[in-house]
Order: sequence, then C-alpha cells, then structure tokens
Amino acid sequence: MDSLTIDRPLDMHLHLRDGEMLEVVAPLSAAHFSGALIMPNLLPPVSDGKMLREYGERIAAAVGEESFERYMTLFFRSDYDYDFLSSLRESITAVKLYPAGITTNSEGGVEGFDIAELSETLEAMSELGIPLCIHGESNGFVMDREAEFIPVYEKLAENFPHLKIIMEHISTKESVEALDRYENLFATITLHHLLITLDDVAGGLLRPHLFCKPIAKRYEDREALRSVALSAHPKVMFGSDSAPHPRNAKEAPGCAAGVFTAPIALAALSELFDSHGALDRLQAFVSDNARRIYDIEPPAKSVELRKEPFVVPERFGTVVPMMAGEEIGWSVVKVTQGGE
Ligand code: DOR
Ligand code: ZN
Repeated sequence: MDSLTIDRPLDMHLHLRDGEMLEVVAPLSAAHFSGALIMPNLLPPVSDGKMLREYGERIAAAVGEESFERYMTLFFRSDYDYDFLSSLRESITAVKLYPAGITTNSEGGVEGFDIAELSETLEAMSELGIPLCIHGESNGFVMDREAEFIPVYEKLAENFPHLKIIMEHISTKESVEALDRYENLFATITLHHLLITLDDVAGGLLRPHLFCKPIAKRYEDREALRSVALSAHPKVMFGSDSAPHPRNAKEAPGCAAGVFTAPIALAALSELFDSHGALDRLQAFVSDNARRIYDIEPPAKSVELRKEPFVVPERFGTVVPMMAGEEIGWSVVKVTQGGE
C-alpha cells in the first residue's frame, strides 16, 4: 500500500502549553488531528471550571477555523468532591493525576500515594464515569520508576473496578503485561517510545531533544510496546505526549523533559506501521480504540498519507521537533474536514 486515509485521527495525550507557545503548536496539531486530550500541567495547573473554560477558549482561538475537538482534562487534586466534579462533568473528558514533582509543572500533584486519601475523589469519578489518566512513575531509580508504579495501578484497578484508568505514555514491558490483568486498565503509547531506546538518547552524544519522562528504555521494552501498538491491541491508544519546550530550555545544562512530535506524528507512525506490514492497524491505534475507550465522537476529518518523502523542518517557532532535518518516508498529502 502506498497511500492510506485515516478517519478522525486522535491524539489522546497532548501538551499545548499557553501564550506564544500555544499559538505556535495548537495549529500544528489541529492541521492533522480531529481532536486531542489536552494536558492540564500549566502554571498554575488547570484545576477549576474557570481555568478550564478560559484555557479552552484560548486553545479555540489559537486553532482558528480548523475543526479540532479539545478533550479537556482537570489536574487531579484529592480535595475534589462529588459535587465539584459533577458540576464539571460536561467540561472534561478525564482527570490527570501526577505524582508530585515527577515531571514538568507537576509540583502540585499527589504526595505519597495513600489510596485512602484519594478514595473520595476516585469514588466520585467512578460514579460520574470520569476516566483517570495517570503519569505512573515512582520516585525511584529513573529506569525503574514505571515498573515500580505498577502495584499502584493494580491497587487502584482493584479498589475502583468501575473507574477507567489510563496508564499514560507506557514505556516498559511490565506495563504492557499489566494491561491485560485488569479489565479497567488502558494505556496510551507515544511515537517516541515506539521509535527510540535509551541508546538514542544517551548512548552516543547526548540528544536533549529526545529526553523525556518517562525516559526511553531498553530494546525489549520497545518491542513490547510495538507488539501492542502495531496490532492495535484494543486497550491501547495513540497519545503523542508531544511536549514542546523552547530550544534554549532543551539545549541547556538542565534540559527540560519532553519530545515535540505533533507535526510529524502521523507521517512517522505511517512509516513505522508500513515497515512492519501493519498499516491496516493504524486506524484503530490512532482513532477507533480511543473513540471506544473514551466514548467520544470526534468531528469529521480525514487525513490522506502517501509514501512520499517528508523532510522534517528544523524548527517550529522556537521548538525543535523530533527528527528535525531528517527524512520520513511518508507524508500527509491531504486533509479533508467535515462533509467536503
Ligand atoms: O517528557 C515529558 N514532558 N513528560 C511529561 O510527563 C510531561 C511533559 C511536559 O509537560 O513537558
Ligand atoms: Zn505528558
């Protein structure tokens, strides 16, 4: 197959930031995707109705005429009660939980992980049918953080059997194995964790634009991620975790975590799926699974890709994308919105 049309592609984990950065990156996602789950880790984090509404309006303004659904998330806090969450039910698609300090702007996240302390909020979410998205890393050794967090996922999945729990940006074979142990566990997988290992980040000269949390792991982890993504396992969805930082924050002594992939995601996924003879699974991985798991109906948009080279720009505004200056074997050639 030399071409492919994807119906309503979705990015179920996206950082759009705010201000000037939002103006640069939101149109790039909206150009290729029908909608995205928008992360709430602004400063301060998106944690009430007013912030949700105003951030949503700023995203809409940055996107302009493109049809692009903003699936908003609220930054988890353990003092959210049933009435508060119920009042926001129509404005949010999920709540995102960060362990305190684990990544960019997560300082106000959960400390210590005492499930009893979180249970009133989680019970309310379960009753209201609000999915819980989690950045699942412990504060242990960097390569072990995700695997060490799995017992927390398991306890949550057991204690709240009706709560949909999404293990965000999984990066290990242990997380892949956990997926099938509980009916209510799901996962997103990024492009970069499908493409790279720690060797690409730090095996030669250090490549700051590939530095992210969770850090890219071993070859066997990447294999496990590929096996569920390329087969479009019904519990996994594409979530880019595209996380732009200005070049000077990446090429710095204290490099910020995040890989910027939004503008290359569909082309690079097509190339990867094609090279594994799995192009027929891409529709499920980048759209159908998410529509079913989140029960959402994104706006009509179809994206045609062709096996033609695409040279990734060196920069988008101040941001250096993944694979800057490199060639990808597939390109987006046409995007059709609505019933055109
Ligand atoms: O690499 C990352 N960057 N991982 C995250 O979890 C957050 C993100 C960001 O917001 O920059
Ligand atoms: Zn993220």
